[in-house]
Amino acid sequence: MDGFAKAINSAKAYLETDKMAGVEALFRESAKSETGQTKDVRLEALKKSAEACKGCQLNKRRTNLVFGVGTPSAKLMFIGEAPGEDEDLKGEPFVGRAGQLLTKMIEAMGLRREDVYIANILKCRPPNNRPPQPDEISACCAFIAEQVKIINPKVVCALGKFAAQFLLKTDEPISALRGKFRGIDLADGVKVMPTFHPAYMLRNPSSKRLVWEDLKKIKNEID
Ligand code: URA
Repeated sequence: MDGFAKAINSAKAYLETDKMAGVEALFRESAKSETGQTKDVRLEALKKSAEACKGCQLNKRRTNLVFGVGTPSAKLMFIGEAPGEDEDLKGEPFVGRAGQLLTKMIEAMGLRREDVYIANILKCRPPNNRPPQPDEISACCAFIAEQVKIINPKVVCALGKFAAQFLLKTDEPISALRGKFRGIDLADGVKVMPTFHPAYMLRNPSSKRLVWEDLKKIKNEID
């Protein structure tokens, strides 16, 4: 089993047991939804838990936590991999070159950035933008899982391999996963559409055509 498959398995085990030192508080907070707390209050409580999290080493080097941005009632949520330098400096996901492309993609769908919710699997920047490590995904994945549950969108667009493989609990390559809706265990009725990451699109402009096909399917689903 490779490192990433191990991370998926441990994330799955974690999500099934609902336990991990340091972040149990977020489950107590989110459980309050049954008593009528708004999505904003639940997200704010979750953000506070993430700010206090010491589940891996990345919190030590970050400038800002990059929790998520957008409307809590969004029908569409985008999930990326991890913050880069621009995101770390601003504390907001997808604000660098890949982010500008994502914003254009959202606008091409007839939406504004403020109409959707955008977050990452990791909330702290990995050094030199290296890929997330299995232990970092295991330590952080409870936060994105809870964000999906709170926002409860109609569709999650998983941007790239890390988001798609984590949400779908698979190690299939993104090229095989993209373009098809799938359900997830995390949240009933939420559909995931994997597509290529905007950073990949910047490196491989010919992939834009396929991504646009995927976005059109999402648009049909949420309209
Ligand atoms: N890439 C990501 O996956 N997320 C960001 O926020 C920025 C770049």
